[in-house]
Amino acid sequence: MDLMTRYMGLQLKNPLVASASPLTGELDSLRRLEDAGAAALILPSLFQEEIEAEAARYEHLTSAHDDSWPEGLSNFPKLPDAQHGPHQYLELVRRARQAVGVPVIASLNGISNEGWTSYAKQLEQAGANGLELNIYFIPADLAATGRDVEQRYLDILRSVRAAVSIPIAIKLSPYFSAVGNMALALEDAGANALVLFNRFYQPDLDLTRLQVLTDLKLSDPSEIRLPLLWLAVLAGRTRASLAASTGVTGAEEVVKYLLVGADVVMTTSSLLREGPGHLAILLAGLEAWLDAREFESLTHVRGIMSQRGMRDPQAFERANYIKILQGYHQPGRSVTGQPAPAVQSRTNGAMPIRPPS
Ligand SMILES: Cc1cc2nc3c(=O)[nH]c(=O)nc-3n(C[C@H](O)[C@H](O)[C@H](O)COP(=O)(O)O)c2cc1C
Repeated sequence: MDLMTRYMGLQLKNPLVASASPLTGELDSLRRLEDAGAAALILPSLFQEEIEAEAARYEHLTSAHDDSWPEGLSNFPKLPDAQHGPHQYLELVRRARQAVGVPVIASLNGISNEGWTSYAKQLEQAGANGLELNIYFIPADLAATGRDVEQRYLDILRSVRAAVSIPIAIKLSPYFSAVGNMALALEDAGANALVLFNRFYQPDLDLTRLQVLTDLKLSDPSEIRLPLLWLAVLAGRTRASLAASTGVTGAEEVVKYLLVGADVVMTTSSLLREGPGHLAILLAGLEAWLDAREFESLTHVRGIMSQRGMRDPQAFERANYIKILQGYHQPGRSVTGQPAPAVQSRTNGAMPIRPPS
């Protein structure tokens, strides 16, 4: 079965990629992910904020000694910059490149223009095969307009693009008013790939302690619908590669994402839940699905259910909105309140997928 795909200019043996998480931050699990079939690995993000906070803490500590106990400084060795800069992360990039044969993509989350560009250069020099920009930004400033937010993404991308020559992916927010137009603007500004989507963590409240909860919930398959929609709209209409991210639990989600046109499918939650070996299960499930329908390669299925590949492209748009709302049936009940038929079609009469003749 030919599962080869291209992503951000890199040739990958299959479309399954382990996205950024603590699992990709350790050599042992990186090796296990590769053994299970991961075609590329995204390292956890290098957070500029974290590195600089650490450096500031160290600076504060040493300067406190400077004032009160100068001779004590001889006991408090001045660390070389490398020890409290991005050194550890750069070392991870280097070691990951040595440990695995598949492409290693570094992820960067900057705060200043200088931070984005200087860390990007260092990541390139450390040997990263590509760079994913994790622009995690919630525009809580009420004066910021949509245009400001878009500009921020574009400015960051342009600066990094000018600083490095390795391929760049942007992990995109799902909250732009015009995701499609933004995607094209990012492509124009030099993005080689778009990751749909970044998953912005949303707080909850603890009603007993009256505190904000910042617990992290892993994703579930119901979350694939938004990326599915936008991948279907964008497939075949941008030169940038498309990565599907969020909600993959089993092979079904992988297949769905490929059908709407994803070049690669990323997963984190399923791997954190089930372990790195789960990737082999996803891969086997994908192969079994293709095999059962006699598809010989991924190229034959990719995008056949994108907006471009569908007979009814409006199925992904508002034209169906009213129909969908009106078509809702409470489980076990028909609209008239009568018990519903046991099995309801979820495909609105669509034909089952067959390989091209
Ligand atoms: C524990 C944890 C740590 C993560 N760390 C990062 C990170 O450092 N950088 C990043 O861009 N995304 C990070 N993510 C987000 C994932 O890469 C991914 O985009 C998100 O979990 C959605 O994919 P999923 O539905 O397959 O989990 C993290 C997610 C989890 C659960």
